[in-house]
Amino acid sequence: MSALRVSSLGRESAPTLVVTQMRRRHLRSVLRIEERTSSTPWSLGLFLAEARRAERIYLVAREGSSVVGFAGLLFALTEGHVTTIAVDPDRQGARIGTRVLLVLLREAIARGATAITLEVRASNQAAQAMYRRFGFVPAGSRKGYYRDPVEDALVLWAHEVDSAEYGGRLDGIEADLGGPVVIERMARVERQSDASTSDVPTVGEPTEQDPRS
Ligand SMILES: CC(C)(COP(=O)(O)OP(=O)(O)OC[C@H]1O[C@@H](n2cnc3c(N)ncnc32)[C@H](O)[C@@H]1OP(=O)(O)O)[C@@H](O)C(=O)NCCC(=O)NCCS
Repeated sequence: MSALRVSSLGRESAPTLVVTQMRRRHLRSVLRIEERTSSTPWSLGLFLAEARRAERIYLVAREGSSVVGFAGLLFALTEGHVTTIAVDPDRQGARIGTRVLLVLLREAIARGATAITLEVRASNQAAQAMYRRFGFVPAGSRKGYYRDPVEDALVLWAHEVDSAEYGGRLDGIEADLGGPVVIERMARVERQSDASTSDVPTVGEPTEQDPRS
């Protein structure tokens, strides 16, 4: 797979992070990270099913051959919904989450998203700080949404993500990163107009499909 784009952003000492489409061969590492970062981890079957569906974007971040993070998003017409994002606990705080989210959002915008939403645990300060930088603002909460432990979710939205202003925000975030982001070529799946979201899992939410939920 050839590198599509390289953003060179300074510090040469930073390890090169490659963001690419999630594939079956990544799932062992993805599951290992998932087990360490979620109290209700998704199963292999759920990741496989999700990553294969239309109207989805699932990405991993690699340092060399090691998968160090991942993120996913689904579309409901022109709204994107971030379903999952996590970074290997041994590599958190190194802006990997920021890089993966940056690529995820740009890819969603390129495919026609005009607004993006997600849920986050009310106590998850690190994730909320990251989302704030990306312009997500609270729009409500879902009581008792998460399990183990039970906790409310904040519902966040970023609107008008297809605007020049939002593009400028993403450019600013990229400029602040301390090293290159390499994006491998993503397969462009044609958007379908009949996307079903009724069976959609979201961040940290157990689902019927997940035997461990
Ligand atoms: C949330 C998560 C994906 C962020 O990824 P990351 O690579 O660690 O985050 P980054 O290094 O890109 O930092 C992004 C921002 O988050 C904030 N942040 C990161 N770690 C933090 C911490 N321990 N405490 C407070 N804020 C923190 C900072 O504001 C940071 O911005 P900065 O780079 O300008 O300082 C990662 O911490 C993670 O996997 N957490 C467990 C799973 C999870 O909570 N997923 C989100 C579900 S909604």
